[in-house]
Amino acid sequence: MSADRQTRVLTIDSAQPDRVAVCEAGRLLREGGLVAFPTETVYGLGANALAVQAVRAIFEAKGRPSTDPLIVHIPSVHDIAAVARSVPAEVALLAAHFWPGALTLILPKRSEVPPDVTAGLDTVAVRVPAHPVARAILEAAGVPVAAPSANRFSRPSPTEASHVLADLDGRIDLVLDSGHTDIGLESTVLDLTVSPPLVRRPGGVSLEALQAVLPTVQLVQRFTRAEDAQIAPGQLLRHYAPKARMTLLQGAPDAVRAHIVGEARPLLERGLRVGILAPEEDLIDVKRALIADTAALALQNLGSRTRPAEIARRLFDAIRAIDAQYPDEIYAVGIGTDGIGLAVHDRLTRASEGRVIQL
Ligand code: TXA
Ligand code: MG
Repeated sequence: MSADRQTRVLTIDSAQPDRVAVCEAGRLLREGGLVAFPTETVYGLGANALAVQAVRAIFEAKGRPSTDPLIVHIPSVHDIAAVARSVPAEVALLAAHFWPGALTLILPKRSEVPPDVTAGLDTVAVRVPAHPVARAILEAAGVPVAAPSANRFSRPSPTEASHVLADLDGRIDLVLDSGHTDIGLESTVLDLTVSPPLVRRPGGVSLEALQAVLPTVQLVQRFTRAEDAQIAPGQLLRHYAPKARMTLLQGAPDAVRAHIVGEARPLLERGLRVGILAPEEDLIDVKRALIADTAALALQNLGSRTRPAEIARRLFDAIRAIDAQYPDEIYAVGIGTDGIGLAVHDRLTRASEGRVIQL
């Protein structure tokens, strides 16, 4: 059972991965083990994608429902035929622009890929990651590697090895620790089995960047309940959620800040602890307005609105950290839906389980 594994941690340089650690990870993967490793987006929990038992162990370790399909990672676009039955014309163009990188493509599945990987779907999600450690261990493993984010089901994705251990210590074989990941939220999932191509999950590659290369790309945004998971795999609404109830506020910054102040005051007066997860500019403003009560505030600064990539990078850390401050109620503020803002908005919407107030 996955709950009684001895989890080893190896520190590994992200620019020049140590050969011994890489070979050990490759061997474990080939032999059916579970290895958490850094990618440029978030840490992944890898297993041999062609070995049914290894793939089942991923679901068990994460507590993930078997209805949610996994992404298969390969070292190069040249390996795509090992997992995809046919390769749509757009792949060469997209791979030239975005691979290796934070783009996952949904393609027709090859029968050699076990149905456990794809939740029984006839399609398979494929990504060529850019992180040198991920690339090195994929080469060393010599097999395609199925890897979801290395968190327990419905928790925020891990951007540091410590997050992986907090969720999965004792349930997996190895964690490769290369420090904080660069992008901080997951890859963009683009479905090429439908026409027009659909973004099923916004992520590290922006919608604008995709459309610049492939103008027909469109966005689907569907947030569904657990009961609907089989109809829309991976579109579960409850995801990344902190323990306290969170509400996402959207709209003009002045209105958003005034709303938070208005909501927070009576809660603070009742002796409750109010959490605020927001860009620096909003936090400064709200804090100033609530000056008398700041001791009962749990604040998580996402960074400046002028640096959206940094906000994306810090987002999951901040969601994990705000939990540790035990707020009774959390208010979150995003950065609009341009560029990486769209992926930030998507994650905050899920963390809020759909409680979004438009002001
Ligand atoms: O950045 C990432 O994508 C990270 C790193 C480790 O590569 N991986 C990741 O995996 O985020 P996971 O399992 O947490 O998310 C995979 C997403 C889910 O939303 C899943 O439903 C979707 O990809 N997906 C996978 N296969 C699919 C398929 N055949 N059809 C539709 N959606 C699919
Ligand atoms: Mg995930």
